[in-house]
Amino acid sequence: MADQGLTDRTDVVVADMFSALPPGGDVYLLSRVIADWNDEHATVLLRRCAEAAGAGNRVLVAERLMGEDTHDSPTASVDRRVATAHDLRMLVLTGGGKRTLAHLGDLAARAGLTLGSCSLLPAGGSIVEFRVVEPAGSGAADGPASTTERIREPLG
Ligand SMILES: C[S@@+](CC[C@H](N)C(=O)[O-])C[C@H]1O[C@@H](n2cnc3c(N)ncnc32)[C@H](O)[C@@H]1O
Repeated sequence: MADQGLTDRTDVVVADMFSALPPGGDVYLLSRVIADWNDEHATVLLRRCAEAAGAGNRVLVAERLMGEDTHDSPTASVDRRVATAHDLRMLVLTGGGKRTLAHLGDLAARAGLTLGSCSLLPAGGSIVEFRVVEPAGSGAADGPASTTERIREPLG
């Protein structure tokens, strides 16, 4: 953080991520966390981020996803094998596992999030952008997007 000149914008908070998270962040990032947890726990984590972020704000998930290899990537075959091995390891050790983008989108929808975009990271894995759904009657557009829509768009 210091190397990047970000110390004046950074606080380190020790907390249980299943409890209320500090509110008011620009964005909430779950990096390589969701795969450690089963669907029920993963949904709670996403909901905690949504609650802290507030309506209209962003939650990002960085994970290796099942089906990433459908991206036009020279490492697609290796990506698929790595994802499958990790999926089995997570399933056996933690009850979690790799999700497809559609599965992750469904968990996020249960947590009050709507899928925005999904982009491959240079070193493998994806970053998936969600927005916190506006409360009913707020005038927000459209509701949750289909999990098969709006994927593979660059983050805006
Ligand atoms: C696979 S690591 C990912 C670490 C880091 N985010 C990254 O991308 O490299 C999962 C992390 O979740 C943390 N963790 C597990 N249970 C937690 C909890 N209840 N509250 C906060 N962090 C937790 C672990 O300590 C570990 O650092």
